[in-house]
Amino acid sequence: MKIKTQVCIVGAGPSGLILAHILYQAGIEAVVLEKNNREQILNRVRAGIIDQNTIDVLKAIGFSDAFKKQGVIHEGFNLVFDNQCHRIDVNELTGGRNVALHPQQEIVKDFLTHRESLNLPLIYNVQNITISNYETSPTITFNSGDEDYIMNADFVIGCDGYHGVCRPTIPKDKRPELHKDYPFSWLGILCESPRVSEELVYASHTSGFALISSRTPEIQRMYLQCPKHTNLDDWDDEKIWHELELRTTNDSGIKLVRGKIIKKDIVSMRSFVCERMRAGKLFLVGDAAHIVPPSAAKGLNLAVSDVCLLSKAIEHYYQNNSSQLLDRYETDALKRFWRGEEFSNFATRLFHQPVDGNSFHIRQQSSALRYMINSKSAARSFAENYSGIPQEFYSYT
Ligand code: FAD
Ligand code: DHB
Repeated sequence: MKIKTQVCIVGAGPSGLILAHILYQAGIEAVVLEKNNREQILNRVRAGIIDQNTIDVLKAIGFSDAFKKQGVIHEGFNLVFDNQCHRIDVNELTGGRNVALHPQQEIVKDFLTHRESLNLPLIYNVQNITISNYETSPTITFNSGDEDYIMNADFVIGCDGYHGVCRPTIPKDKRPELHKDYPFSWLGILCESPRVSEELVYASHTSGFALISSRTPEIQRMYLQCPKHTNLDDWDDEKIWHELELRTTNDSGIKLVRGKIIKKDIVSMRSFVCERMRAGKLFLVGDAAHIVPPSAAKGLNLAVSDVCLLSKAIEHYYQNNSSQLLDRYETDALKRFWRGEEFSNFATRLFHQPVDGNSFHIRQQSSALRYMINSKSAARSFAENYSGIPQEFYSYT
């Protein structure tokens, strides 16, 4: 089958679906290609927290009601160390900015069902994508089920995550990539137990980092720092609960309640950036271009930030027949990415136990944690990054 469209979007994760929606609102046609089926993309457990910038974007593009239904505003979070709990009042420190607990799956579901309700094109189970001629006039071939497709598009947008096909389409010698690996991972669980805290708990403990988050009042999401090459079989439920309780014990009323663990997964911790986010008519967005460790809840927000820049640039292109904003996309997106990357790396160092037990690192970490609870300036800097640096910041940097 032959298809012609304005924008081919590869990947129906948050980046791809939100970009497709904004383009639709601007009257620009897009076809979304997704390698998995609908059920698989709806069952992917990932982000929980979105920042103020993303909250504002969702509201601005018509998803206020969906946000109100599923999103819960958090005006702060709890920081536990030395078994004491300190509340960081993000709202007060930033003059009114917040984060929200708004699970990624719910965001994906909202955009997907909206797209379906409008009968807009999204092809599932796509395999063997090839992208040629992307410098000037892209052709995309693929198959889905028994059907072979050839698509011509003005632009191809890689929203296909870290393991996608779009980034490797650009020859290796034309895409500078930077990596940083962390010597530990996270073990994540979903469990059936009551919510024990209105706001998240980030715990830095001599046994390792722990995080208490939530999905619904009845389903909780929690994470533990664990060795890098952990085998899930080495972590029975008893050991998981023991470590969670040990690391989050504190002097406030927040106390875990054990429940049935319904999912366990290992989350690798890495930083990665491909500093070539554009090659002719091919653009990379979100995790396809960059990854941050999840410690500061930034990845999805950085993806949405890319989407905003690129959608504006594509709109500008069609309205004014001008590539001016497309030409700036990579530079502007990387500026925002590096702020998120530096902050995610900072939070990772602040919260996690060094695997080599390095005393120098541990003393610095304790000092940084104490600084954060004793100095409003230190706490404000953290809160400003956590709730999302306002976009105006970048207009003069
Ligand atoms: P993805 O979500 O990876 O979506 C890519 C899509 O492309 C997928 O649907 C995939 O199936 C599809 N695809 C892949 N290859 C192909 C192909 N060849 N052809 C077609 N389609 C393809 N971020 C936050 O901001 N806050 C958080 O609290 C947070 N918590 C996290 C917790 C965990 C455990 C993890 C792992 C991540 C977390 N993140 C968080 C990061 C966030 O989940 C990602 O940054 C986000 O998913 C990026 O969205 P994306 O659309 O760019 O990529
Ligand atoms: C969640 C994930 C994070 O990485 C984080 O920093 C906070 C919350 C979550 O999955 O809920």
